[in-house]
Amino acid sequence: MTVTVAKERDAYLDVGSLLPGGSHLIGGEWTPAASGEVIEVINPATKELLSTVARGAADDVDAAVGAAGAALRSWRDTSPTLRGQLLYRWAEVCRVHEHEIDLLERLEVGRPFWGPSGIPGILTYVAGLADKITGQTLPTSIPNMLGMTLREPYGVVGSIIPWNTPGPLTVADVAPAVAAGNTIVVKPAEDAPLTALLLGKLALEAGIPPGVVNVVTGYGPEAGAALPAHPGVRRMSFTGSPETGSRVMEACAKNLVPLHVELGGKSPQVVLRDAPLDRAIPTIVRAITFNTGQVCAAGSRLVVDEKIHDQVVEALASAFEKVTVGPWYEKVDMGPLISAKQEARVLGYLDVGQQEGAKVVIGGHKLSGGTYDSGFFVEPTIFDGVTPEMRVAQEEIFGPVLSVLTYEDEQEALAIANGTRYGLVSSIWTRDVGRAVRLAKGIEAGQVGINTTWSRGVIGAPHGGYKHSGFGRTMSAESILDYTQLKSVVINGDV
Ligand code: NAI
Ligand code: MG
Repeated sequence: MTVTVAKERDAYLDVGSLLPGGSHLIGGEWTPAASGEVIEVINPATKELLSTVARGAADDVDAAVGAAGAALRSWRDTSPTLRGQLLYRWAEVCRVHEHEIDLLERLEVGRPFWGPSGIPGILTYVAGLADKITGQTLPTSIPNMLGMTLREPYGVVGSIIPWNTPGPLTVADVAPAVAAGNTIVVKPAEDAPLTALLLGKLALEAGIPPGVVNVVTGYGPEAGAALPAHPGVRRMSFTGSPETGSRVMEACAKNLVPLHVELGGKSPQVVLRDAPLDRAIPTIVRAITFNTGQVCAAGSRLVVDEKIHDQVVEALASAFEKVTVGPWYEKVDMGPLISAKQEARVLGYLDVGQQEGAKVVIGGHKLSGGTYDSGFFVEPTIFDGVTPEMRVAQEEIFGPVLSVLTYEDEQEALAIANGTRYGLVSSIWTRDVGRAVRLAKGIEAGQVGINTTWSRGVIGAPHGGYKHSGFGRTMSAESILDYTQLKSVVINGDV
């Protein structure tokens, strides 16, 4: 792998001037954990300390749910127009601070620059929906009766988010929740909690009242587990692994609380014989190296017509060869993995694939030497000769590892594409509109891209999974309704 050393300007940030350290954000106040303990947040490219946050647990979650409960009474009665205006202001404040938000996220995740932040766009989209949440009037069988439905907020809601894209994932839950009149407690991941804290601070700066958006930091089994188990929480959302998602669902079941979950994928890139390869190849490379493959929507399986297999794999290998890897301040394509744990997971799968008989076309190792020695850097890797039952074809690696599978006909392509427990994202590469339509309808996934990656250029495309990738949708007009409950009201006019 080669490293381009063109350094990005302003690639450092005084984290201490943005966030107080050792704290989380409860009721608009920076608060230490009840235990007084902290968690260290490191930069995965250098293993240097970026900041500390509170090591929250059940007591802290209780305080945050209390603060959210206290803020709820006036927030739910605030005019939806004003709630929308405050969200627009939050979007504007985030635009003003776009560089700090983006750089903070990149520092804690270890990501090189990948283009403008999606955060202001998500906030702007949701802000416009705040005053468009409506119920219905209903037909009645008795003349002087009036029937209607109201859409009301749940109350205090909880959100547990992962470390891979913490900024967009925070606002994707918080914005619709608060637009609909709920107040929220967010539990970001221990590996990357800083962006959520900064967004909480900017929400206050925008004028969103204290206690509407609370951020409790801490480890999953401590702060995370306490949130869905809290009796004051009325709705939950979770993004992360299926195993933890299942645990959060159990807690919600005990607490009789509804939830939506987004649990990752093993997303197929189906390449047909007539695919526009000049477009497909760079997109396929990006879809698995973007964020070092640590993306729920990563295109981790190439499902290719056996007749063009050699040509496609050769083109991909030469494109992988050109993928540059380095720390966030260099103009490179790919950064490190987030943590030692994630590195061990990805390196483990590189062994597993070879033991199963898959062939490494390119990559396959940890990167070492120079700046690589100070972070969790691995090579982008292609496994060829992968068969559908192999673990590297079935399990989410969450790293820059592409598994290549071949098919003989359309039926087999579909069977392979659908042959995992996941169903999040998929792409179909072909010029044949008939095949594209059949596959788009046949693929079990929440998102299908035809000759593109999912949602490119689409505003408000619902995002969420089929099968073990989860249920519920975010980022769309429907998602705001998920944060409301229906009330039927009937009025008797015979008085
Ligand atoms: P995880 O699912 O354990 O962590 C996600 C969030 O859940 C974090 O905020 C964590 O603190 C919290 N959490 C952990 N245990 C909890 C519990 N018992 N109760 C409540 N909350 C809890 O994911 P992890 O361990 O960081 O990564 C493992 C694998 O999960 C990754 O390699 C990847 O395959 C998958 N993953 C998928 C993501 C997605 O976007 N769908 C995001 C992150 C991880
Ligand atoms: Mg975990």
